[in-house]
Amino acid sequence: MSSLSVSSLPVFSDTAPRYTSYPTAPHFHAGIGAEAVEGWMGAVQAEEPLSLYIHVPFCDKLCWFCACHTRHTLRYKPVADYLETLLKEIALVSARLEGRGKVRAVHFGGGSPTMLKPSDMKRLADALRAALPFGEAVDFSVEIDPSDMDAGRLDALAAIGTTRASLGVQDFDPAVQKAINREQSFELTRGVVVGLRERGIAAVNLDLVYGLPHQTVASLGETVARCLEIAPDRMALFGYAHVPWFKKHQTMIDEAALPGQAERLEQSLAAAALIAEAGYVPIGIDHFAGPGDSLAVAQAEGRLRRNFQGYTEDGCETLIGFGPSSISRYREGHAQNLTATGEYTRAVEHGALPVARGLAVSVEDRARGWVIERLMCEFGFSIPELLMREGGLGATLVAEAQRLAGAGQGLVRMGDRFEIPAAARAHTRSVAAGFDTYLARGTARHSAAV
Ligand SMILES: C[S@@+](CC[C@H](N)C(=O)[O-])C[C@H]1O[C@@H](n2cnc3c(N)ncnc32)[C@H](O)[C@@H]1O
Ligand code: SF4
Repeated sequence: MSSLSVSSLPVFSDTAPRYTSYPTAPHFHAGIGAEAVEGWMGAVQAEEPLSLYIHVPFCDKLCWFCACHTRHTLRYKPVADYLETLLKEIALVSARLEGRGKVRAVHFGGGSPTMLKPSDMKRLADALRAALPFGEAVDFSVEIDPSDMDAGRLDALAAIGTTRASLGVQDFDPAVQKAINREQSFELTRGVVVGLRERGIAAVNLDLVYGLPHQTVASLGETVARCLEIAPDRMALFGYAHVPWFKKHQTMIDEAALPGQAERLEQSLAAAALIAEAGYVPIGIDHFAGPGDSLAVAQAEGRLRRNFQGYTEDGCETLIGFGPSSISRYREGHAQNLTATGEYTRAVEHGALPVARGLAVSVEDRARGWVIERLMCEFGFSIPELLMREGGLGATLVAEAQRLAGAGQGLVRMGDRFEIPAAARAHTRSVAAGFDTYLARGTARHSAAV
């Protein structure tokens, strides 16, 4: 276990972005709007692989720890109204793509897409297939709140062609569940996985979180053991991001019950060791996959990618996000949709792409983005490859890498590769932040890097 305190280092920071993109979303600006994004959509090529993300920003209960963009509702009307707007946004995008592109991956996320009634899940999937050109084999993944699920929803997920399901678990300890307002039994969770498998949706991921109130190494270990009984294909182990200045409901979390920095690190390392002992391959900073899983294969072959949804083998350069707050990525830049559902709805009703802000990616951004993505995916990068890819800019980045390695006190080492050694990998986000030139300019606050 590393005993390094990142704050004691001159160049590394205790808090850092999660780097699901570079530049990161807090640096997007209002200078990029619908017009710029229409131009970027216009440049999508005929057969270019596309990845789609559809956000459903509703939950029928609000977990106090949650940092996702979602809203609590017990009524279905807001969800039904939202679906109508979403279908219109799909039509707006379809009109601008004019049949170009080929959809390879679809992800329903949230919030809880499983808030949708079975018939509405089908309407949404049918609308996507009718409006956009789909490839033959589409990786279709859905985030599932197990407490939403019933036979009708399981059937609907199978009917729309779901190939992968991700279930939120967080922790099975009743004391932790009470403290985060998320009561969800092991039996319920296992029952949903069984229901998915019976319907042919065999690829299952479970999300766990460490650093939650009242969590201990032992209690998290129990949760991991229970998850292993379910034998998921993948597991995610996220560090609790406590950002009450950004998510007001997190003020319901008793800060006195939160584990400290050292305990967080201990929890993450202990849980990771248990998962690895069970035969899972660690993927990037917070995922695990069975040895034959496509994510593990992608990592072994150097094809692991990181996008707004996290780790993926999806190599699509163009990712189109639908729904409020969704982020899209084009070759030319990134764009985020309006976040407030009302504003998003008004823009779509007026026939405009509901873009709030974005960023045109420069040549330097792209080079730094490659370095940061490689660090997040494989904890290092090859110096000759960087120089070959980026030429003069590569030499500048190598000089920066040398400076970081010199100051890094064991967090990084440099030979033919710039690399974060195994013992320091909990600090990967902080090391990646060393290559982020936007951080110093911004005022965004980030969650704990470990
Ligand atoms: C959209 S939710 C998952 C789907 C569904 N709504 C559910 O909760 O089961 C995505 C995942 O993000 C993770 N997450 C949410 N808030 C978090 C936070 N503050 N810190 C770390 N992970 C968080 C949780 O593990 C959660 O399962
Ligand atoms: S964790 Fe999932 S169910 Fe809970 S509030 Fe967040 S998105 Fe909703």
